[in-house]
Amino acid sequence: MASSSNSYVNGNRNCHGDNPQVKRAKWVVPSSQMAKNTHNPIRQIVDNMKIEPNPEKKMIALSIGDPTVFGNLEPPREIEEAVIDCIHTRKYNGYAPSIGYETARAAIAKYYTSPEAPLEAKDVIFGSGCSGALDLCISVLANPGQNILVPRPGFSLYKTLAESIGVEIRHYNLLPERCWEIDLENLQSLVDENTAAVVVNNPSNPCGSVFTKEHIQDILRVAERLRLPIVADEIYADMVFSGHSFHFMASLTTEVPILSCGGLAKRYIVPGWRVGWVLIHDRHGAFEAEVRNGLLRLSQRILGPNTLIQAAIPRILEETPQSFYQDTMALVQRNAELFFNGVSKIPGLSPIMPCGAMYMMVGIDIDKFPEFSSDVEFTQRLVSEQSVFCLPASCFQYPNFFRVVLTLPAEMVSEACERIQEFCSQHYMVGSSANGAF
Ligand SMILES: Cc1ncc(COP(=O)(O)O)c(C=O)c1O
Repeated sequence: MASSSNSYVNGNRNCHGDNPQVKRAKWVVPSSQMAKNTHNPIRQIVDNMKIEPNPEKKMIALSIGDPTVFGNLEPPREIEEAVIDCIHTRKYNGYAPSIGYETARAAIAKYYTSPEAPLEAKDVIFGSGCSGALDLCISVLANPGQNILVPRPGFSLYKTLAESIGVEIRHYNLLPERCWEIDLENLQSLVDENTAAVVVNNPSNPCGSVFTKEHIQDILRVAERLRLPIVADEIYADMVFSGHSFHFMASLTTEVPILSCGGLAKRYIVPGWRVGWVLIHDRHGAFEAEVRNGLLRLSQRILGPNTLIQAAIPRILEETPQSFYQDTMALVQRNAELFFNGVSKIPGLSPIMPCGAMYMMVGIDIDKFPEFSSDVEFTQRLVSEQSVFCLPASCFQYPNFFRVVLTLPAEMVSEACERIQEFCSQHYMVGSSANGAF
């Protein structure tokens, strides 16, 4: 060790490490291009914001998409016991296969199979959370220099993952006036010979929208015509409000090859457990020659979820009572209605009622708030005056909106609405008599 570091510094010995041409002038070690290309838009925006809550008001953080943060939602007892039992067996302390335990994959396949979109254990590959599953999908489908289509507004991880490996992202628009459906004209205009895949997120983060069967069929028609494989981010599968139905994309096509990504994080209130999966739907063998094997190879870079949780998956799926899912979504829906009713009365704000997931987007008529030039400034001042932190939707490439999470206790929703109302009444068209507002 000592001799190699000496030779490095002193140079001129006749071996590779001492070649003066490769010798660094000083101890500045560059990072890889991949590291330089990796950006998290949320962190970039939020870390540059001054988030200094008003010390006189208790903070209400409506910004974090983690259903555990308020402490009011807990995972079902049954799944905790399943994991504890797995620990006690001492059978799951070793390495699992890179794609996951066969029993866990079979359990996922059994749970999600349907006559329209049949699945077997071989069609399931585990990853570290749904993020890990998305990473596998983007990495297996796209080469550097190619592009993938992603929604705007949309979950920013797609950009982070793609750009870090030199894959370009192209944003297709979602239409707020049509419950955030995809603008399919716009999507098609982005496709070229280098388009490797389209990412569809349903139900949506940040919109809370849930696509109708008809809209999914329209998307599939476009994908089929253009021969575009789909990465379906379905982490919020089945998390819909009463009166709405969720449809897996793969259940509505026999033609388009689909990699559906999911996980335990949101539905079971355990994002820290890091369990995600890719479901391979490939009725005509489009993924057979390369993609299946590619996913297997990529899974071998880093093993997926913790073995104890993997081992507990059959029981997690079987023993979680139906009422658990229903109660969670009933709470989210109640909060959505409360928040929507509270905020839609506030001049300058336009909430868009969600149909599922756990978020709502609220439009800011920014011209009516002349002190603020953007959603970032608006939300920053809202924290410093009212200690309510909403995520500026610039984080989702969608300025002049903010996103709120809806998993909080109901009394906090009312309090948040009152404070947002007070804030808006103090800043709405300040100094202007136009319309006589306030
Ligand atoms: C749309 C969407 N996809 C994927 C993920 C990542 O899920 P996980 O925590 O399982 O990695 C999230 C997390 O918030 C999400 O909102």
